[in-house]
Amino acid sequence: MKSALTWEIIAKCSTSKARVGKLILPHGPVDTPVFMPVGTQGTLKGITPKQLEELGCQIMLNNTYHLGLKPSQELLEQIGGSHNFQNWNRNLLTDSGGFQMVSLLKLAKITEQGVEFQSPHDNESTMLLTPEHSISLQNSIGADIIMQLDDVVSSVTTGPRVEEAMDRSIRWLDRCISAHKKPDSQNLFAIIQGGLDMDLRKKCVEEMVLRDTPGYAIGGLSGGEEKDIFWRVVTLCTDLLPKNKPIYCMGIGYTEDLVVCSALGVDMYDCVFPTRTARFGNALTSKGSLNLKSVKFSKDFQPIEKDCDCVACKSYTRSYIHLQTTKETVGCHLISLHNVAYQLRLMRNIRQAIIEDRFPSFVKQTFKDFFGSEE
Ligand code: GUN
Ligand code: ZN
Repeated sequence: MKSALTWEIIAKCSTSKARVGKLILPHGPVDTPVFMPVGTQGTLKGITPKQLEELGCQIMLNNTYHLGLKPSQELLEQIGGSHNFQNWNRNLLTDSGGFQMVSLLKLAKITEQGVEFQSPHDNESTMLLTPEHSISLQNSIGADIIMQLDDVVSSVTTGPRVEEAMDRSIRWLDRCISAHKKPDSQNLFAIIQGGLDMDLRKKCVEEMVLRDTPGYAIGGLSGGEEKDIFWRVVTLCTDLLPKNKPIYCMGIGYTEDLVVCSALGVDMYDCVFPTRTARFGNALTSKGSLNLKSVKFSKDFQPIEKDCDCVACKSYTRSYIHLQTTKETVGCHLISLHNVAYQLRLMRNIRQAIIEDRFPSFVKQTFKDFFGSEE
């Protein structure tokens, strides 16, 4: 199908499947492997688009589900999409919305038509998100990469439901492709499903590759399965997917997962983890995570991380942030900002190590620092 991107591999690791690429999207370049922070405006989770830009972020995620409700599709159309609305001139990716509904709203029900959920506006009516509606919303939002609506089951689900969800995701991909009105400016990615079953994953990859979308995502992972099987599913998918298209592993954001999946040939990631964990006072550092709510930081006058150049580290001490996290939300804001800076730096370091062909020793050192004893 049509594509509004180019992607070029500029360096490969000689001992793993890790690669560095240059992805060119309608709103500019993206260096891969990339971590895409989830941008949510004006809330406590929040980092503003402006702050993300200052951190050097080249692509962020928006939620179709949230934007579709507010500011609403009509308003988005009027304003000319989410880039304008947020004053964000770099790239955007939107997820299709179904996953958020299933994970946020317990009452979501999936049928062949789509995802049915209780309206968040009142308790009586239900709303239906179909593949067509999801794509229409995403066309109005105008993100550079949009995702198909998929049928997601928890990664620990077993039995016929896993196969049903995988087959349905293929059928929904076809409906999404037919509904997509802007293939010249928005790249639709397929999402591989099939749970932890290698045969189902293989079939899903084969079918979806026939649809020839501009990129592919691996979905349905990081839901409580063992690391070993998670890695084997990722390995199978990256082995079978075309080598000339970007691969996006959805919902991945732990340091160890970003490093390992990059070695397995994944190019893109997203996760709410760095900003979510910040709300609990956890700051990510190359030496592991620090809970800044702990009193042991009350007289610690170092920055969160010595060589970090984020606003939190340049201007404040652990002691100050500790005090803020115990009393005020500003502490959590600062940690959020630092955590995103940490993720973006980790990805820069991964890319640099691949380019300089020292990725294996980088992986070893990163693990040693991160899981070794606290400083
Ligand atoms: N985010 C994390 N995992 C998934 C998934 O499997 N599908 C979608 N649409 N979004 C996700
Ligand atoms: Zn920092």
